[in-house]
Amino acid sequence: MTVFPAIRPRRLRQTEQLRHFVRETELSITDFIYPLFISEEVNQPKEISAMPGNFQWPVNDLAKEALRIYSLGIPAVLLFGIPSEKDTVGSQAYAPKGIVQKAIKVIKNAVPELIVISDVCLCEYMSHGHCGVLDKNGYVQNDESLVLLAKTALSHKEAGADIVAPSNMMDYQVGSIREILDKNGFTNTPILGYSAKYASGFYGPFREAAQSAPQFGDRKAYQMDPPNVREAMEEIRLDIQEGADMIMVKPALAYMDVITKARQQFNLPLIAYNVSGEYSMVKAAAQNGWIDEKRIAMEILIGIKRAGADIIISYFAPQVAQWLKENE
Ligand code: PBG
Repeated sequence: MTVFPAIRPRRLRQTEQLRHFVRETELSITDFIYPLFISEEVNQPKEISAMPGNFQWPVNDLAKEALRIYSLGIPAVLLFGIPSEKDTVGSQAYAPKGIVQKAIKVIKNAVPELIVISDVCLCEYMSHGHCGVLDKNGYVQNDESLVLLAKTALSHKEAGADIVAPSNMMDYQVGSIREILDKNGFTNTPILGYSAKYASGFYGPFREAAQSAPQFGDRKAYQMDPPNVREAMEEIRLDIQEGADMIMVKPALAYMDVITKARQQFNLPLIAYNVSGEYSMVKAAAQNGWIDEKRIAMEILIGIKRAGADIIISYFAPQVAQWLKENE
């Protein structure tokens, strides 16, 4: 008679019920932040060609869209503004009646429960498309930019933003915003630092969406070099020291190791940004019939969470709401 070894495979994979029972990671719609583009240049929602299903919104249509997002169970939005006027000091970024300031008011009025996070950057407001003030040789001036960035964050808070998220990668961006918020009595307003933000090709479609492509050069002087991971830990550590309440790794897909490492080293809420290029690639391949969109998107998103992210910023968020319902 044949003698079989005593070791047996664990029979946990037989049914969906059993698989679910032992699942280590799960996606919930409450894990998501949905980015919204608000534009002074459009008077009806305009689909972003490289990001099907995502739109540039006029302020007038925002209340309805905010309600739709909230009804899907998505807890938070991240706002980007596209002003009709740009200059070399980004005036519209901190104008009390700037596009994002208006948008924040409309959303908080319409759906007070929806968490409004404002992206704090200057690139969309600069005629040259860089994230900071330039000197005469075209170099970004760190500390001059910080002053404008802090002003921008304060004006977002005054308009009613719940969380401000500096994304321009100037040194001391979190600290300078913490200072100005505290000085103005907003000691309880959290800051989400775009702590480890890489100079990435994956932002391509976003730059069409936000009309923020640099007119010359690139962002490599202030965004991180893709091969570096220890440097990312250093950027995150500094953000926390400056007062960040939440930290971010961006992009997500090609930086899963950075997410995992950040999760191991730091205890603050960790946000991963599933950026525009990561979205558009899936959309394009799916439209060609080359991949199964739902399956691939969900696999990527669960991967980001498994890597260690608590919260994911994703253009897929409304679809995820739908997909999770279908699976119930
Ligand atoms: C800068 C900013 C960018 C993104 C978010 N904030 C673009 C950039 O740094 O060039 C990219 C997000 C995406 O690609 O989805 N304001």
